[in-house]
Amino acid sequence: MKILILHGPNLNLLGTREPEVYGSMTLNDINEKMIALGKELGADVTCLQSNHEGALIDALHDARTWAAGVVFNPGGYTHTSVALRDAISAIAIPVIEAHLSNVYAREEFRQTSMISAVCKGRVTGFGWRSYELGLRGLLEIVKGG
Ligand code: DQA
Repeated sequence: MKILILHGPNLNLLGTREPEVYGSMTLNDINEKMIALGKELGADVTCLQSNHEGALIDALHDARTWAAGVVFNPGGYTHTSVALRDAISAIAIPVIEAHLSNVYAREEFRQTSMISAVCKGRVTGFGWRSYELGLRGLLEIVKGG
């Protein structure tokens, strides 16, 4: 079973980017943990990051040809991108929305998500563990649990 973990803009700077909000783990640390967890749970996890909206859309389109599902942190595009929402709607595989920070405890503009309504579920506020919870939940869904 193949799973895509997709990270949006500015998440390449994790570790140094506002560590009080996003924690001290780097993106590479998180990816390694998710690949290891995938192995433990019988999934082959591929991780991708882009700062570009179009590249994220391309990655979602491509994922429909090879992945059983996606854990997606769209970063700031969460709050603005109709195009990402349309891409998620357009692919038949389940997408879980994940955020490191608790967006509800932050600025008002972060409390709107363009994509939540077209995702299977949402995890927010658990730091890097939002990816872990998202991956575990996604695997339950795709395995039919
Ligand atoms: C984020 C929350 C977004 O509001 C923000 O723009 C990010 C990261 C999170 O993981 O908490 O870049 O998606």
